[in-house]
Amino acid sequence: MSQTKAIYASFRSIGAYVPEKILNNADLEKMVDTTDEWIVKRTGISERRIAADDEYTSDMGAKAAKLAIERAEINTDEIDLVLCATVTPDYFNMPSTACVISDKLGIRNVQAFDISAACSGFVYVLSIAKAFIESGMKKNVLIIGAEKFSSIVDYTDRGTCILFGDGAGAAVISATQNKEEAFIDIHASADGAYADFLVTPAPGCINPVSQKVLDEGLNFVQMKGNETFKLAVKTLTKDVKEILAKNEINSDDIPHFIPHQANYRIIKAVGDALKMKEEQVVLTVHKYGNTSAASIPMAINEIWESGRLQTGELMLLDTFGGGLTWASALLPFAGKANNA
Ligand code: ACO
Repeated sequence: MSQTKAIYASFRSIGAYVPEKILNNADLEKMVDTTDEWIVKRTGISERRIAADDEYTSDMGAKAAKLAIERAEINTDEIDLVLCATVTPDYFNMPSTACVISDKLGIRNVQAFDISAACSGFVYVLSIAKAFIESGMKKNVLIIGAEKFSSIVDYTDRGTCILFGDGAGAAVISATQNKEEAFIDIHASADGAYADFLVTPAPGCINPVSQKVLDEGLNFVQMKGNETFKLAVKTLTKDVKEILAKNEINSDDIPHFIPHQANYRIIKAVGDALKMKEEQVVLTVHKYGNTSAASIPMAINEIWESGRLQTGELMLLDTFGGGLTWASALLPFAGKANNA
């Protein structure tokens, strides 16, 4: 009797796109009552990128996706699922940004949809890609995290406008029968009891577009920053310790710890709790700020482009965001390294 070989999901490639325009702390000093010193000390952020007025989430996502497809050395017609994680879609709520991106890339007659998990979005789509591939339903899944976060930021609110930036990242996740290339584990979770920690109150069926929405700025992101901060450190530390323990992997054995880039102090607290050395922790928060679902793939792209990420090396991803949602993943990079 012939035995069917198991199918695993593998991380084949990465791409990213950042808009040209830089908004630095000196610019923000002119817009709200803040200082470069306060922002750097409390968040580690010096600058962030802002998309042009006519540059949308789908444009950034399509540029990152094009690179990811090229680097996976496959053709667009081999992609059989397109997933986009975003909380700043081109349209509220149709068509999905995944459909718009598919069109921009010439990917036709392929299942495409968005998911909304705020900053946890990329690891959430990673888990969905894994499930589709390991069930045998799909072979090459294009996953994208893209945000024009500046479209929901109130640039008169100093508590939020200093944090966020725009950008996109994408990856191709493919089927493999080689267990060495397989994702090791993913954990994704949520607790809606903390939904009010991070909210964009409008538009939605609770607050459809109205004069009240505009007068009260309900279309902008609202955040309970300090409460979110404390819960993020606690939840992420616990989650990451659990995924390592469950898979009997020591934090010393992780060459690339790639946390969501929300705040340097959160990254440092979690890294310290795991006894991570500085060279293990990937940091982009100083130059891009928090780009929500795009933050992790942008950070992976950074180490790939600089030649730091080699084939077979382990990546530990962890993230936390609105919902509240959180997720972590342990997987090897199964694509070609950038050693050119
Ligand atoms: N400049 C100067 N002062 C400021 C600024 C600013 N930009 N922002 C706030 N302050 C003031 C506050 O008004 C407050 O003043 P008060 O003491 O007189 O009332 C003081 O600084 C302290 O405010 P806190 O909010 O307690 O400051 P904190 O140290 O918590 O830093 C921050 C704020 C940076 C927002 C932090 O709480 C944070 O990073 N939170 C987590 C964000 C996060 O991880 N979000 C999850 C992902 S996002 C997503 O899913 C979309």
